[in-house]
Amino acid sequence: MTIFLGTFLDTPHDPFAGGELRAETEGALLVRDGVIVERGAAQQLRADHPEEETVDLSGGLVLPGFVDTHVHFPQVRMIGALGMPLLDWLEHSTLPEEARLADPTYAEGVATDFLHGLVSAGTTSALVFGAHYPDAVDVLFTQASQIGVRITSGLVVSDRILRPDLLTSVESAYDEGLALAQRWHGVGRNRYAVTPRFSLSCSDGLLESCAALLDAVEGSWFTTHINENAAEVTAVRDLFDDCDHYLSSYHRHGLVRPGSVYAHNVHATGPELEIMAERQAWAAHCPTSNAALGSGMFPLKEHLAHGVGVAMGSDVGGGTGFSLLKEGLQAYFLQQLLADRGYALGPAHLLHLVTAAGAAALGLADQVGDFSLGKQFDAVWLCPAPGSPLDVGIANADGPAHALAKTFTMGTPADVAGVFIAGVPVGTMR
Ligand code: GUN
Ligand code: ZN
Repeated sequence: MTIFLGTFLDTPHDPFAGGELRAETEGALLVRDGVIVERGAAQQLRADHPEEETVDLSGGLVLPGFVDTHVHFPQVRMIGALGMPLLDWLEHSTLPEEARLADPTYAEGVATDFLHGLVSAGTTSALVFGAHYPDAVDVLFTQASQIGVRITSGLVVSDRILRPDLLTSVESAYDEGLALAQRWHGVGRNRYAVTPRFSLSCSDGLLESCAALLDAVEGSWFTTHINENAAEVTAVRDLFDDCDHYLSSYHRHGLVRPGSVYAHNVHATGPELEIMAERQAWAAHCPTSNAALGSGMFPLKEHLAHGVGVAMGSDVGGGTGFSLLKEGLQAYFLQQLLADRGYALGPAHLLHLVTAAGAAALGLADQVGDFSLGKQFDAVWLCPAPGSPLDVGIANADGPAHALAKTFTMGTPADVAGVFIAGVPVGTMR
């Protein structure tokens, strides 16, 4: 067993439903086989277990490992293609890079870059948009298994509109997806996600086969894009017959259900939110991407009012990096700018969005997302360099919530001093 010492912050009770930030200052967690078995004041726990090894994470804050509910593996090398709206950005920057993953050797390098970026930002669980090529997805799962990060991912499929080398057929999409799921779903911490790119690039036949694959692979997840950009929304409505709204292109195939995570949903309408709430589908809010691509303002209040679950995604490479601290800050900025139409997010909301909400969206809430007894010890230790503005800010904070607000405001991956998954250190310990 190991005793971890530090200041532990988490949100076991949803702050959007009245829950508060929980803080264990000068605290300790006793971890056995990766699971938190006791928690309390450092002095007491050490006295109770004098024989156990201690790991000192004091200085800075220890937060639950971040959960990224929308991030693209093939896009790590093209982060920062600024100045284009979604459809131009896809055509000119993103899809040419995604096509390079046809070469498994190239995909290996990208997977290494991607997983390094993910884990060194403090992300320990992620719903990952895979690649259009089965070998590349295989490479991602292989490398993720070596690190131990909790990955839910799958083959990205499309059968129209995109460049021809990214297209598949209804039969291949099903067969290749099933083969990948049989190889990886439920193996270690890996799970399979059925992943049509977006209904703009998917025929009804392909979406129907996605639903069949989802049914065939028990416990598999579903993810795609929706309502991101105004031109995209119009194009989808024009392409599908009898399409009341974007969601209906998925809903008609039974793809709105628990275990479905829809990225963006910036231009959501009331009827769509009603269906998502009723079917318990989640939205992945990707605020830096929405700003960088000029996609629009995420209607958080409307999602909450309808009872639609919201978690966070970095959306690398539409987003500007892997840090969920930055996504939290950008979400905060946007809601501030929306004034009366915005939701006043506090530090506990931000922490919840990037941890426990993500765990719930991915169906992992019984395992990760906070530091309650019985949960796996997935954690990120944020310990800024001595004398840095964040270090000074935390030292002069008026309590844990204030320290957390400063961490969201100024924290970056450079402040990540340690990352743990099931109690095991991964990535760099300074
Ligand atoms: N819609 C379809 N593909 C993509 C993508 O790669 N990124 C984003 N942000 N939206 C998409
Ligand atoms: Zn995306």
